[in-house]
Amino acid sequence: MFTSFTRTAALMAVPVCLIMACSPQGSKTNNEAPKVVPVQKPQSASGEELFRQFCSSCHPDGGNVSDPARNLRGATLRANNITTPEDIVRVVRKPRSRMIRFDEASLPDRDARAIADYILRSFK
Ligand code: HEC
Repeated sequence: MFTSFTRTAALMAVPVCLIMACSPQGSKTNNEAPKVVPVQKPQSASGEELFRQFCSSCHPDGGNVSDPARNLRGATLRANNITTPEDIVRVVRKPRSRMIRFDEASLPDRDARAIADYILRSFK
């Protein structure tokens, strides 16, 4: 009973839709190209988010809580021969001394690289 009612309703709706789409008014107001809404892919975390997650506990605002002289500011990094994202990734993979080591499993290259770009861009 319910199904046959919905089927009837659906069948009745079809000609109404056709009439509306074909009416001259309908085509006049519809001559804009249909807008394509791009499907958003889930974004991977940004360098900033990753930095906050993995590094900022010891390096808040690019500082260094346990070894202030080894902070992440541009001048300090340059003085320590750290000038490119690759240099930072190298430190992350093989810290000089007390810093915790991040391997590929805990921090993939892609993410380490995003963090490195963020550091070089942000802490002057
Ligand atoms: C547990 C604390 C800790 C965490 C977490 C940490 N670091 Fe460090 N970091 C240090 C310490 C201590 C040093 C100085 C000693 C050393 O190099 O091992 C340092 C040094 C560095 C240096 C060298 C700075 C210089 O001026 O020579 C870079 C670059 C760096 N860290 C990047 C990172 C990045 C990127 C992360 C996050 C992925 C991170 N660190 C997470 C403690 C930490």
